[in-house]
Amino acid sequence: MVEKLKIQGGEALKGEVSVGGAKNSVLKLLAATILVKGSTKIYNVPHLTDVDIMLNVLSGLGAQCVYNKEEKSVVINSENITSITARYELVSKMRASFIILGALMSRCREAIVALPGGCAIGERRVDFHIKGLETLGCECKIEDGYVIANASKLIGSLICFDIPSVGATENIMLASVLAEGSTRIQNAAQEPEIIDLANFLNTMGADVNGAGTSEIIINGVKPDHLHSIEYTTIPDRIEAGTYMTAIIATKGKGIIRNIYPAHLTFFTNKLLKMGANIKLLDPTSMEVSCKNRLNSINFITQPYPGFPTDLQSMAMALLTTSNGVGIITESLYENRFMQVQHLLRMGADIHQDRNHAIIKGVRRLTGATVAASDLRAGASLVVAGLMANGTTIVENLHHVDRGYEKFDEKLRALGGNIIRYSDD
Ligand code: EPU
Repeated sequence: MVEKLKIQGGEALKGEVSVGGAKNSVLKLLAATILVKGSTKIYNVPHLTDVDIMLNVLSGLGAQCVYNKEEKSVVINSENITSITARYELVSKMRASFIILGALMSRCREAIVALPGGCAIGERRVDFHIKGLETLGCECKIEDGYVIANASKLIGSLICFDIPSVGATENIMLASVLAEGSTRIQNAAQEPEIIDLANFLNTMGADVNGAGTSEIIINGVKPDHLHSIEYTTIPDRIEAGTYMTAIIATKGKGIIRNIYPAHLTFFTNKLLKMGANIKLLDPTSMEVSCKNRLNSINFITQPYPGFPTDLQSMAMALLTTSNGVGIITESLYENRFMQVQHLLRMGADIHQDRNHAIIKGVRRLTGATVAASDLRAGASLVVAGLMANGTTIVENLHHVDRGYEKFDEKLRALGGNIIRYSDD
């Protein structure tokens, strides 16, 4: 069934929206559950296509997974791991499933995991993951599109990344938990999702220090040190940033609940600079509003704590109608301006030169039929549709459903004129 969104733009969003658990954290926590021989319960698990894919990866390894929709929780029993293979059919659907490699190496000392390949937004190599694992003592060979890895033992080592990769940091953290001795990851990624994974592992009995800084030290523990736990995932900062953008873009006023505002500091400061109003209501809620035309800004996407690449397309939607000229430099991915061609069809004035986009604010976007090419580009087109005059149809909705739970429902509750339908 091919689903689309039909958006009648121009309605100011008002009210409250609650953010779910962080997709980019929960996927790694799910992979980490196989380190322990027993049951793990994770709360604040959003119901997303990507979560379903990771649960399928775990089921394929022999783990028993039960998702409770009402409670938004999942219980994984990985007492018996019966397979060490993560098949291409699943890994190719979701790159993040490559994280199972480090977890399998920890648990089984062998793994066969399909190489994820590139994706719409860029080449997205996995060389840091493989080199890091080899440094720990894994033998990795690539055959028929699979990484075949095994190690008689894993020995803690010094690993220094060329650039702070989120996935590689996580894969090495997982692989080091049960290694002999200490592993030191230098130039580690510092994202809140890395801290969440470290907290999860430590709650389980691991010894991970320094997460959230550029150096993470993992002191290996014995397998019987790890035990069953219950854990709650952190809120999704990118989902939060998306709703902040949608409210500001429509000159609305709303409260975003269940967030950690500190995870959005860089983004929030940029929105304030543009002229939005943002008020901290309590430790987990912010009120955002905007009355006047925003001012253009320039920014460069950077690893955390810099401007998040996952919110770049959302900020671009805002810049399309801001006062002046804004320049965006995308420094993480070579092809993350997929929304540009669609925003142009909605009347935006954007000039793209390699990884730079120059956006001259126009007075108003106009509705058009557009298509999501990837998750975040799709979300930005929904925001643009809410801002525009007239009707916007957003096609290829399955990309958006990978990362936003009940996106249209939550926007409708804020007063957005938006419906989901299918042509079938
Ligand atoms: N890179 C390499 N070699 C590697 C690993 C990464 O060259 O071995 C490069 C990548 O090609 C990229 C850069 O390093 O240019 C950063 O990639 P990173 O490994 O940090 O990204 P990731 O772990 O694949 C996660 C998120 C992305 C988010 C990035 C950056 C998950 C599941 N995905 O990807 O989220 O953009 O970190 O913050 O955690 C999204 O949610 O829409 C999304 C794409």
